[in-house]
Amino acid sequence: MRAIAIDAFGGPERLHEVELPDPEPGPGEVRIRIACTSVNPVDWKIREGWLKDLFPHRFPLVPGWDAAGTVDRVGEGVERPAPGARVFAYCRKPEVQWGTYAEHVVVPAGYVAEIPQGLGFPEAAAIPLTALTAWQALFDFADLGPGQRVLVHAGAGGVGGMAIQLARHAGATVYTTARRENHDYVLGLGAERAIDYTETDFREAVRELAPEGVDVVLDAVGGETLARSYELVRRGGTLVSIVEEPDAGRTDALGIRAGFVFVRPDGAQLARIARLLEEGALRPPQIEVLPFARAAEAQERNRARHVRGKLVLCWEAG
Ligand SMILES: NC(=O)c1ccc[n+]([C@@H]2O[C@H](COP(=O)([O-])OP(=O)(O)OC[C@H]3O[C@@H](n4cnc5c(N)ncnc54)[C@H](OP(=O)(O)O)[C@@H]3O)[C@@H](O)[C@H]2O)c1
Repeated sequence: MRAIAIDAFGGPERLHEVELPDPEPGPGEVRIRIACTSVNPVDWKIREGWLKDLFPHRFPLVPGWDAAGTVDRVGEGVERPAPGARVFAYCRKPEVQWGTYAEHVVVPAGYVAEIPQGLGFPEAAAIPLTALTAWQALFDFADLGPGQRVLVHAGAGGVGGMAIQLARHAGATVYTTARRENHDYVLGLGAERAIDYTETDFREAVRELAPEGVDVVLDAVGGETLARSYELVRRGGTLVSIVEEPDAGRTDALGIRAGFVFVRPDGAQLARIARLLEEGALRPPQIEVLPFARAAEAQERNRARHVRGKLVLCWEAG
């Protein structure tokens, strides 16, 4: 199969096309013939070696954790999905080597969900990692519910865009940070108020909207943004970061609950997300499709941190 791989950690020039043996599914696994993947910040973080102490890595290393395509083989004991099913999946495995910048990926059947009818592979590829992250942060960790108020940082990004929609669908009121040129986009996703973090201190805007603090903050930026977010959570509320571990000293002093969430693959949860897509309660982010041959450029654009929605890589892209 064709794949995009690196032979050592380093810059975007390390990414090159290679021919690799087709992987075979073992018991309980399925093989997906990948049509499209999407670019996530973790892809270039892995390429640069930032996560090498967190997971075992092996070379040649194929990056990529999102996949949309067709099941073309199943291992022993797998009844569903069947060969021919159109599926999507968040494909992180315990060892980082065989990712989704490839024509095939093998994953446990439990990672996979069927793509709703009418949703194309490029749109589907933009969804699993970001939607599962938003779901696990907002609902599994922060227990967000109707009538609550949530501040979602980086609403124009992959995770932020999903978080706005999922929170709104759950009956919460959503405030979000985004540059002005992205305000129509994030308001269209369901945010009640967009705050241009480059023009104003977002703390002042949030304090005006929720003087007693919001129930939940979802931090998708880290650093100074996280540092300024603690004081915006009401006492008893929750701060969840997907970028770094919050400072326990500060959260204890403020009487708020806080934690770092690292997304895990979950096909059953992804199937619930698929149902929301089918019902129109959730829609795919804005996407731009590039051919796999432009993976290095796509990673560098993602690394510059201002892509709206998602960049998607497809084998059939023009
Ligand atoms: N822990 C996990 O499981 C997990 C899962 C997914 C992602 N992550 C991490 O979460 C972060 C976000 O991921 P992502 O996929 O959503 O990234 P992304 O799609 O690349 O985010 C890009 C967006 O970030 C916005 N942005 C940049 N700087 C900002 C700031 N200071 N304040 C507010 N918005 C800002 C940009 O909007 P503007 O142009 O409007 O600024 C842009 O649309 C990354 O660090 C990623 O590695 C962690």
